[in-house]
Parts: sequence; C-alpha cells; structure tokens
Amino acid sequence: MIKKIARAHTNIALIKYWGKADAKQRLPLMSSLSMTLDAFYTDTYLEAATENTFYLNGIKQANRASERVFALLALLNERYGKSTHYQVRSYNTVPTAAGLASSSSAFAALVGAFDHYYQLELSPRTLSRLARMGSGSATRSIFGGFAIWQKGHDDASSYAYPLDEQPELDLHLLAIELNTAPKAISSTAGMALAQSSPLFAGWLTRNELELTEMTQAIASKDFTQLGQLAELNANEMHAMNLTAQPGFTYFEPATITLMQLVRQWRIEGIEVYYTLDAGPNIKLLCQLKNVKIITERLASVFDNVKIINTSFGPGLSYRNVSCR
Ligand code: DP6
Repeated sequence: MIKKIARAHTNIALIKYWGKADAKQRLPLMSSLSMTLDAFYTDTYLEAATENTFYLNGIKQANRASERVFALLALLNERYGKSTHYQVRSYNTVPTAAGLASSSSAFAALVGAFDHYYQLELSPRTLSRLARMGSGSATRSIFGGFAIWQKGHDDASSYAYPLDEQPELDLHLLAIELNTAPKAISSTAGMALAQSSPLFAGWLTRNELELTEMTQAIASKDFTQLGQLAELNANEMHAMNLTAQPGFTYFEPATITLMQLVRQWRIEGIEVYYTLDAGPNIKLLCQLKNVKIITERLASVFDNVKIINTSFGPGLSYRNVSCR
C-alpha cells in the first residue's frame, strides 16, 4: 500500500522567539528569523482511528507526551468541522527535546498530514498559522531556506513567510550533540520565566533593529555580520534566563567550554559563531572551508561528540512511501 507522508524540516532561529504576548494563541512578542535545516526532519502520517494514539519512531507515546499532539488535532478538528479520532505516526531524525527544536518540524508535519488527509489544500500561510498553535517555532518550518515569522497582533496576522527559500549563501550549521537528554525546562516554561528578567524590555526594543540587520546580512551574503548578530541574539536570550526571577540556565559545563573555544578559534582566524536554544547543545555557524578544521578540533576536545553538518533544507513537502 502506498501512503503519502508529510515531511517538515526543523529550523534554527538566528533571531529568536523568546516571549509570548498570548500563551493560548501562541502569539509572540517579537518577530523571529530562522534557517530551515536539511539534516533534521519529521515525517508524519495520520489516519482515522477509534481513539487518538501517537507513535513516535514506532513507539506508542504515553498520554503526557501525546497531549500537545492531541490538543492540536482537537483544534484542527474544531476549525475544520471534523470529529474524528486519529492514529498519528511520526518519525523523527531530531533528538527530541534536546534544544534541537524537534517541535518545530513535528507540528509543521502534523498540520501538513491533516491537510493532506482531508485534501484541504490549505495555503502555506494558513498552514503556518495552524502550526503556530502547536509550537511557535513550527510556524517557520512550513518554509525552506530563511523564513521570517512576523509577530502580528492576532491569529490571522501572526504567521511566517519565506525570506529566501533557496539562499545562495555559504552557510553551514554544525549541530553539536553534547547532551541529548530531554531538557529540564521546556521552552514554553523557559520563555514565560524569562519575561520576569529586568532585561526583557530591552530585548523587545532591539527586535526590529536586529531583524532588519539580519535581513541585510542575508541580502548582502555577509557571513560575518550574520554570525556576529546570531551569536549576539542567542547571548541576549540566555542572559535573560540568567537574570529571570528566579534565574535559570540551559548551559552545561560543556556548553561554556565550547563557547570559550569558539571565541578562541576566532582569535586564531577560524571564523565561527555559535547559537543555542532551549537546551545545552550548541550550533556552530561557519562556512564550508572551515567545516573540516572545526570538526577536527571538536573531536580533539570532546570524547564521542556527535557533530552533524547541515545546511539549508526545504519547506513542507509530501512523499509516497510503501507500507505493509
Ligand atoms: C529558543 O516554539 O518550542 O527555540 O511556542 O512554547 O512551543 P512554544 O515554544 P518553542 O520555542 C522555541 C524557542 C527557541 C527560539 C526559536 O525557535 O525562535
């Protein structure tokens, strides 16, 4: 039997979403800009069933892990006048919940699978809005290359659009897996806490400027400007976590070691920048010419470190797979 699955790739924000205006509708307080990655994606297929079930990589998930999936399906049912239960099967190439943004591909693939199941042929903008209701970062995973999620002011105006789906930019992202254990503080909880930081108002004020500068860096293919700004933006986000009341951090000792190494390598002439999300795993931004030397250096410092070299990935797509 041939089944059509929805595939969505994860994205990493270079200008980050970290703070909500409306938690229920997942409306952000700032616009964000991301790079969709080729190496990490989620494949999802759904069909009608007598009760809701969710399998991830072939394993049936306990109710708690499935809650957000079922909540989004309930919302989609409501919006499109359905009352079906579903069996959802997802296959993830992303280490779930380790700060590699697995929810971005997961919820984008889920809305894609729903759209396909009912042959709704929803527009990318509508899919982007629906994916947002599952997880904010999923809003951007409908698109490939570089995408911008404009914050908007309500459900209808908060969606992503492609900035450049096929960028001709020499940009590699090395995902370094220092720790793939699920994170202790979810992004939802982390960003809610961060809003208590005295730095939060400044973070919001700078958003428009940083977004404009990043857009300019991309347009002029200026890797240095892009890297510097991405690193600054990530540091700002994590500074808010440290200064929240109460403060917290996603950093592990190895995270800080690697941040210091990156600065050292730059002094030695290897141009590399870091970004990191709601977890201890660092992502390095570099150009092709430096992938080899950075990989070698990482292997000499960390035992058994897993490094995944990735670049631009596509937006939501469908493919036929044969099943027994
Ligand atoms: C640090 O999209 O996971 O990766 O909307 O609460 O599900 P929820 O949060 P989520 O947050 C992602 C935060 C981030 C930055 C980003 O991707 O923009």
